[in-house]
Amino acid sequence: MDALEAIFTRRSVRKFTNKPIEEEKLRQILEAAMSGPSCVNARDWAFVVVTEKEKLRQMAQANGRPAQPLKEAAAGILVCGDLQRAFGPAPEYWVIDGAIAAQNICLSAQAMGIGSVWLGTWPQMDRVENQRRLFDLPETVTPHSIIALGYPAGESAAPRESRYEEDRVHWEKW
Ligand SMILES: Cc1cc2nc3c(=O)[nH]c(=O)nc-3n(C[C@H](O)[C@H](O)[C@H](O)COP(=O)(O)O)c2cc1C
Repeated sequence: MDALEAIFTRRSVRKFTNKPIEEEKLRQILEAAMSGPSCVNARDWAFVVVTEKEKLRQMAQANGRPAQPLKEAAAGILVCGDLQRAFGPAPEYWVIDGAIAAQNICLSAQAMGIGSVWLGTWPQMDRVENQRRLFDLPETVTPHSIIALGYPAGESAAPRESRYEEDRVHWEKW
């Protein structure tokens, strides 16, 4: 699958089979996460990869009801910002760098036939603090988002129509 096909066919997948994700595929997904652009190439992220069922359940609970797909996922990746590595004059870029890493996780998974759903964490600080506590994260590491991953079950990966909207685009001038 090429990059455009992965972008255009990706949908959030919230139902997964029991099949585990092969370790080499998880590593490729993590390599993709670390292959995106980041402000001044700070690569100011860190990842917690979870495959144990009980820990996935705890992560789901810590993020509240919208994170329930994690309970049946084969893996969950907690994308974090590592503020010690962030760009000094404007450390807030960590949020953008984390989002790019998270999207690369979703797209690389799609390219391998693995479903994903992004579970929003930052800036909902109750979720951020819950995940921080669950994983006993260092003070300088902030949870950004969770990506639940697994082989898709049922019809959750149905294709969608183009989202292109001409009136959102302003050529040359507004
Ligand atoms: C920042 C962010 C937070 C999200 N949080 C959740 C979530 O907590 N639970 C969930 O099921 N989906 C979540 N999603 C997935 C969106 O609901 C989904 O991307 C959107 O409805 C578009 O559908 P699609 O991904 O199938 O194109 C989130 C997506 C983003 C980008």
